[in-house]
Amino acid sequence: AWLPPEAFRSLGARRILLHGEGRLVGTVLNEVSRACARYGGRMWHSPSWDVDVDVVFALRDADELPNPSVEAARAAAEAALVEWGDGGALGDEGFVLARAGDVTAVLADAPAGLLYGLFHVVRLCAAAFDPTRPPERHRPALRRRMLNHWDNVAVHPVMGQVERGYAGGSIFWRDGRPRGDLARVREYGRLLAACGVNAISVNNVNVSRTEALLLTDRLGDVAEIADALRPYGIRVHLSVSFAAPVLLGGLPTADPLDESVRVWWAAVTWRVYDRIPDFGGFVVKADSEGQPGPFAYGHDHADGANVLAAALAPYGGVVHWRAFVYNHHQDWRDRSTDRARAAYDHFAPLDGRFRTNVVVQVKFGPVDFQPREPVSPVLAAMPATRLAVELQVTQEYTGQQRHVCHLGPCWSEVLRFAPWGPGGRTIADVVTGEAAAGGGMVAVANVGDDLFWTGHPLAQANLYTFGRLAWDPRQDPTAILDEWITLTFPPSATADAELVRRTLHEIMDDSWRTYERYTAPLGVGFMVNPGNHYGPGVDGYEYTRWGTYHFADRDGVGVDRSRASGTGFAGQYPPYWAQVYESPETCPDELLLFFHHVPYGHVLHSGSTVIQHIYDTHFAGVEEVTAMRRRWQTLNGMIDPSVYERVAERLEEQVRCATEWRDQINTYFFRKSGVPDERGRTIY
Ligand code: GCU
Repeated sequence: AWLPPEAFRSLGARRILLHGEGRLVGTVLNEVSRACARYGGRMWHSPSWDVDVDVVFALRDADELPNPSVEAARAAAEAALVEWGDGGALGDEGFVLARAGDVTAVLADAPAGLLYGLFHVVRLCAAAFDPTRPPERHRPALRRRMLNHWDNVAVHPVMGQVERGYAGGSIFWRDGRPRGDLARVREYGRLLAACGVNAISVNNVNVSRTEALLLTDRLGDVAEIADALRPYGIRVHLSVSFAAPVLLGGLPTADPLDESVRVWWAAVTWRVYDRIPDFGGFVVKADSEGQPGPFAYGHDHADGANVLAAALAPYGGVVHWRAFVYNHHQDWRDRSTDRARAAYDHFAPLDGRFRTNVVVQVKFGPVDFQPREPVSPVLAAMPATRLAVELQVTQEYTGQQRHVCHLGPCWSEVLRFAPWGPGGRTIADVVTGEAAAGGGMVAVANVGDDLFWTGHPLAQANLYTFGRLAWDPRQDPTAILDEWITLTFPPSATADAELVRRTLHEIMDDSWRTYERYTAPLGVGFMVNPGNHYGPGVDGYEYTRWGTYHFADRDGVGVDRSRASGTGFAGQYPPYWAQVYESPETCPDELLLFFHHVPYGHVLHSGSTVIQHIYDTHFAGVEEVTAMRRRWQTLNGMIDPSVYERVAERLEEQVRCATEWRDQINTYFFRKSGVPDERGRTIY
């Protein structure tokens, strides 16, 4: 992935001094000595100061450093910190990098900062040693940067080992037991640290019987994973069942206000921390898609979350309580129920009622990780609650790691969205929170036991990008992609590095929009095959109970979510966007069918009619995928043949599937509307 040995060449060939003690400093030590052994550099661990070095990694509170050039670099870093004028605060994970003379110094206040500093130097390659490089300070914007694994311990009869997993089996579990391959888990931790992720949950949010036991009888299995990941600064969390007091504790109730339930959670949580002192906390999906929750006892989500939060509070743990709650037994005839409204309707009234160690975890859009959705209004509706935004790195609705779909630009749009109107606070600000007390970013993971970790080798970039955006949500996703390319396909290991870099950008930069073009049009979403969610199924969900409809008929398509005549969802936004989304005249084209039901002849801001837009984008999407395949072929012989072959094979499938999407969508709308393509192309 993004840590091939080659990525360490530049660092590993130098003389390096490491100063500091502690577990994470030990990790830096291992990394650096491994790199030096491979590339001929040399490493000293404190207190041997009396040496000439090129690089120093040191904790700031280290004693005076008698080595003059090291001291100069340290002084440069300190001076820069003063100039930044914030008292030099680096936090537990921040670091500063400065050059003085011929030395590059990385200073941190805590060992985790040195670890992140190390991976920053690796990312920079030779640029880290550029004499003209000005000092820089790095500190994560978000405290918790978390992945949720939807991994089942026991194979689920429908969902398999990993729910919505497209990269083989789980890296943690197999057939009801831990896999025991902790070497791979450690490698995973290393990859995550190198992109900035610092927390994971190790089991699916849908908690079945075997998985529920991780909290009690099988806690040892979780502790082993925590031990393997701890050296990389990653804390382990657990998805728990709200019914655990009944399921595991034999209590007659899981009522969150019942004293015996409170005592049970407190006792169980004490045992968890006794075994895993840095345990992160619980993730809960309650009262959603069949999972148990507080509604059974006549209580709300705040009551439910708070009982778990009270149990975790003495140890500094958090509850990630998911806002993905809706009625999954709907009737398409009932226009008063709108799945998009559900999270807001359930959660906004509870603002201010959650304990401070509850994070309400909100999917980025109001429905379900579709390739295009408006940003969830819940993220603007709970100022007195810690909110996290949830993204989906696993490509459930975006091609299932058989299609190239680089999601960085999509996530970046979400993070830059200003829900109170242009120029105002953004989603990134909301999840950062005041004094970094926000809920952070969470994503559903996409790795498995596949040779390339993610099935599609290029899907690794999504995982890397998630980590980097969670570190700094303002980063440009294309620049992040560039980092990923340079690390993963290091120039020294490629015949023509520039060609590889350029070609990968051409294939990946706009691949999310390409995916959008050949799938469901204009934000309407969910035209997928039911169940597996792969490939076109235009009416697949149209008459089901899941509440995801497009309402296409002979006259038009789209869901009226306006206040004036529809479900009223548009009114859940603060005034600026409520007004913009309310009218088809002002609603952005890409979301038109999410908010409005319009005739096929409706003219978009682009000047095209809806029906012609559908045809044009679907033809264009397939052409773009065909061009991706052609571009990839130019890399044959330039990169690792196994990577080349795997991507080539997946691009064949992408071309096939995109063509199927194009034809099914175009034919469907041609048959419904009777309007021919202006350009006379073949519509079956
Ligand atoms: C989607 C997905 C499910 C998952 C659910 C969730 O609906 O298809 O597999 O359980 O989201 O986020 O909880």
